[in-house]
Amino acid sequence: MIELKNVNVAYGNIKALHDINLIARPGEITAVLGANGAGKSSLLKAIAGAAQSASGSITINGEDLTRMPTHLRARKGVSLAMEGRRLFRGLSVEENLSIAWSFGPRRTPFAQALEQVYQSFPILKERRHGKSGMLSGGQQQMLIVSSVTIREPQYMLLDEPSLGLAPIIVQQIFGFITHYSNSRQTTVILAEQMAAMALQIADQGYVLRHGRVVMQGTADELKKADVVSQLSAAYL
Ligand SMILES: Nc1ncnc2c1ncn2[C@@H]1O[C@H](COP(=O)(O)OP(=O)(O)OP(=O)(O)O)[C@@H](O)[C@H]1O
Ligand SMILES: [Mg+2]
Repeated sequence: MIELKNVNVAYGNIKALHDINLIARPGEITAVLGANGAGKSSLLKAIAGAAQSASGSITINGEDLTRMPTHLRARKGVSLAMEGRRLFRGLSVEENLSIAWSFGPRRTPFAQALEQVYQSFPILKERRHGKSGMLSGGQQQMLIVSSVTIREPQYMLLDEPSLGLAPIIVQQIFGFITHYSNSRQTTVILAEQMAAMALQIADQGYVLRHGRVVMQGTADELKKADVVSQLSAAYL
């Protein structure tokens, strides 16, 4: 379980998060929803240790992470896929997966871990020797999500995996995330602007606006509260 209590994040004078309280449970997908600049990435970075949380506390299974450096959080099983499709674009699919695997606990031998990835995304097997920079957007996102799961995380933080992708590809990737989380009881936090798609797979969600939680509830409650059209309206 990940628990945030009164977490504040600031970049100099700019306050990105104000008094965030959040709980994310094992085997569940927690959606963090909000428009541009709402604070979604800041929240994920605060958990991964890539942003300084000015105050408040972040715990996993009761252990305080607030002042723990990023690499130690990774060792505790926290894995963040940052927004913007960050890959080693000049390296092949398999080289990217090898690097990602080498940063994990390596409980599963590489060949076997690779086979699991290729079973989930056969297209990555077909393209395994090709440069990742030459993949389509959807294939790159499959590689990014696989680069997280190959590290066998307990806590998986995904920043806008749907961005710029066709709905059918998003459904494929989201289907994989759901299956992965259910079968391994992984705690997943999914940051998304696309509330409709995220709430299809999320168990619960939080809506951020200007760095504050303005709504929270189960996915059904948020759908009933019409979060989807409210967020869509915010983009117009
Ligand atoms: N490195 C930074 N330096 C200064 N301000 C920042 C930095 N990163 C984010 N911010 C500011 O913090 C606020 C929250 O940004 P954040 O990136 O967390 O939002 P977001 O919900 O992820 O947005 P997006 O949907 O565009 O990814 C914004 O006002 C943003 O301008
Ligand atoms: Mg963001």
